[in-house]
Amino acid sequence: MSEPATDLTNKLPADCEVPAHIAIIMDGNGRWAEQHGLSRMDGHLEGRNAARRVIEACAKLGIEVLSLYAFSVQNWQRPTPEVEGLMELIEMALREELQALVANNVRFVASGRRQDLPQSLQRVLDEVERDTAANDGLILNLLVNYGGRAEIIDATRSLAQQVEAGDVSPADIDEQLFAGHLYAPDLPAPDLIIRPGGEMRLSNFLLWQIAYAELVVMPVLWPDFTAAHLLEAIEEYSSRQRRFGRVPKGDE
Ligand code: IPE
Ligand code: IPE
Ligand code: MG
Repeated sequence: MSEPATDLTNKLPADCEVPAHIAIIMDGNGRWAEQHGLSRMDGHLEGRNAARRVIEACAKLGIEVLSLYAFSVQNWQRPTPEVEGLMELIEMALREELQALVANNVRFVASGRRQDLPQSLQRVLDEVERDTAANDGLILNLLVNYGGRAEIIDATRSLAQQVEAGDVSPADIDEQLFAGHLYAPDLPAPDLIIRPGGEMRLSNFLLWQIAYAELVVMPVLWPDFTAAHLLEAIEEYSSRQRRFGRVPKGDE
């Protein structure tokens, strides 16, 4: 994980366009567990190993930002033991991985309504952010108690307060100003969204930021996701022509 651009980049075609920001909807843990006759929690534990593999691969590939969707605001509707198990798992994984993140120059940020998370998890999110703040390698953005609509509401509230205080005039509100109130305003928008598990939906993921992201849905369940799947998704991304509303290249 320490050397950027090592053997993994060699596995991509030389002219491959590598996305700066990859965002992953880590889905399929429950189905994986069911297939293996295990509990849903076992599926989430195995999903953690996939997350570790992908973080490591992204660091090696020299990816700038990796966003991982770990828990949505809607996921509180799951049975209490699963919700509590997920909170404990996220906290434990962060405690256990902190040293590896520091050693590998990863900067950690968390996005979501963290004030509603258990106190001990909030503390660990703060600690890992603080202890990795000086790192300048891969940025790992973990989405916990995250909802795309909730984020837009939170940004709107924050902006409305500035308007109320007289610091911002409604006429000055544009996309750039608005985006400055999102949870992680300094991160570029995702270029590539990967959804393992096969569902063709976004499930309230980064709704503002993904206006022009390329979506790659893969049948593989998240616990089975490897660096090879990541490379496959990057190659698929590289084969797409991003137009941003313009006519195809060469037809201008
Ligand atoms: C994703 O896996 C993990 C979370 C949403 C926390 P799921 O638990 O949604 O797995 P499936 O979709 O039921 O297979
Ligand atoms: C999306 O997966 C949320 C995360 C991966 C954290 P879900 O399993 O919650 O999404 P739906 O319910 O299938 O839309
Ligand atoms: Mg799911």
